[in-house]
Amino acid sequence: MKKLYIETYGCQMNVNDTEVIFAILAKEGYQRTENIEEADVIMANTCSVRDNAEQRIWGRVDQFNLQRKNRKVVIGILGCMAERLKDALLDTHKVDIVAGPDAYRSLPRLLKAVSDGNPQIDVMLSREETYADINPVRIDKNGVSAYISIMRGCNNVCSYCVVPYTRGAERSRDAHTIVREACDCLAKGYKEVTLLGQNVDSYHWQSGEEDVNFAQLLEMVAQVSPELRVRFSTSNPQDFSDEVIELMAKYENICKHIHFPVQSGSNRMLEKMRRRYSREWYLERVAKIRSVIPDCGLTTDVIAGFCSETEEDHKETLSLFEEVCFDTAFMFYYSERPGTLAARKYPDDVDLETKTRRLNEIIALQNKMSLKSYKKDIGKRFRVLVEGPSKKNPEELCGRASNNKMCVFPDTCHKAGDYVDVEVVNCTSATLLCKLV
Ligand code: SAH
Ligand code: SF4
Ligand code: F3S
Repeated sequence: MKKLYIETYGCQMNVNDTEVIFAILAKEGYQRTENIEEADVIMANTCSVRDNAEQRIWGRVDQFNLQRKNRKVVIGILGCMAERLKDALLDTHKVDIVAGPDAYRSLPRLLKAVSDGNPQIDVMLSREETYADINPVRIDKNGVSAYISIMRGCNNVCSYCVVPYTRGAERSRDAHTIVREACDCLAKGYKEVTLLGQNVDSYHWQSGEEDVNFAQLLEMVAQVSPELRVRFSTSNPQDFSDEVIELMAKYENICKHIHFPVQSGSNRMLEKMRRRYSREWYLERVAKIRSVIPDCGLTTDVIAGFCSETEEDHKETLSLFEEVCFDTAFMFYYSERPGTLAARKYPDDVDLETKTRRLNEIIALQNKMSLKSYKKDIGKRFRVLVEGPSKKNPEELCGRASNNKMCVFPDTCHKAGDYVDVEVVNCTSATLLCKLV
C-alpha cells in the first residue's frame, strides 16, 4: 500500500478538496499519512490568492525535494497555483505532477503515468465538475465539525481576485447529494456541517422540475436533524437575501454567524474592486441582520491599500469598522495578482510602507472592536458544541457558541461532540471564558 501525504493551503474549500483527493486516491490503494518521511507521494494543495501565500508554498516545495535524497518520491502541486502557473511550474521547479482544481479525478491516471519518469499535467477547468458523488475522507482533528462544498468556481469578477481564474465558472452541486452527505456526517458522529462556496448565496441547482436556491438548500440541510448544526461561508453582501436571514432566525440549529466580507469602506474603492454593493447597502444589510437576529456573529475580510486608495478612502474603512464592530476580521494588504482585471487596468500604486501602515491601523482598531464585541457577551448564556480539550489546559474544554466565538470552560465530564450550556464570566479579544451552568 502506498502512502500519501498532502499539505493544504488557502481556504476551507481547499481543505475539503484535499478530503476529496484522499477519497479518490484511497480507491487506488493510497493510504493517508501525516508523516512526510514515510510518504511515497507528497503533494501540496495550493493557494494563489496573495503573493505571500505562493512564496510560502515555494519554500515548502523545496523542502519536499529534500525527501528525494535517499528514496524515490513523487511530488505534486495541486489546486490554485497549479491552475495559475500550469506548465511553467514544470520548468521552474522539480515537480512530477501538476493538477488543477477540476482535475482530481485524473490523479490516478497521472500517478500511473508519472512512474515512467515523465512529469504529468492536467489543468483543464470544467463547467460541470462538482465531485458530487465522492464521499470525502475527513481530515479534521475532532470528528465534530465537517465541511461540505455546495458549489465550485466563481462568476464574480472582483478586480483584485484570482479565484475566478484558478477555479473557473460557478457551478452548483446536486442538492440531494449535499443532504445525503450531511446525513452521512451525522451518522458518523459529526454534529456540525459548514456549507462552503465562494458565494453561497448564489447557489442555484436545477434538474427537471426541481429548482433549489440557497435558502431552500439551507432549510433542507437544517431539517436533517435538530442535533446537527449548520454553518455556511462565504456570503457575498450583494446577494445576501432576507429569506436567508429569516431562515436563520427560524431554525435553532442554523448557527447565528455570518462571514460577511466587506473589503473596503469606501464606495470609490468598492466600485473599483467591482464589488457590486455600496457602503450604504452593506450597512443596511448589517442593520437588517441585527434587527432580525440581535446576537448574530459577524466577521469580515478587508483589503488595505488597493490601487489608488487615498487616506480618505482608508479612513472610510476605519469608520466602517468602528460602526459595525465585527467580532473578528481577516485583514490583508493588497497583493497584485497577474492576469486579474486590476493588474491589467490599475497601477499598484500604494507603496508597501503605506499599505503596511494602513493595515496595521485596521488591525489595531479591530483588536479594540473584538474586545468590545467579546465583552458584550459577558453574563450571557450559550449552548456550546464541545470540540475537545482546550489548548492550554487539559482540565478545560473548548467549543464554539452559535455565534462562532470560541468558548473555554473548566470541565472534565463532557467530551467532543457534546452540547453543553455555559455562562460567560470573562473574555479576551478572541475567547469567551465561561463556566458550566
Ligand atoms: N469569495 C470570498 C473571498 C475569497 S478570497 C468573497 O467574495 O468575499 C478571501 C479573501 O482574500 C477575500 O475576501 C479578500 O479579502 C482577500 N483577497 C483576495 N484577493 C486578494 C488580493 N489580490 N490581495 C489581498 N487580499 C485579497
Ligand atoms: Fe474572488 Fe469576488 Fe469571487 Fe470572492 S466573489 S472569490 S473575492 S471574485
Ligand atoms: Fe486560495 Fe484557491 Fe481558496 S486561491 S483562497 S485556495 S480558491
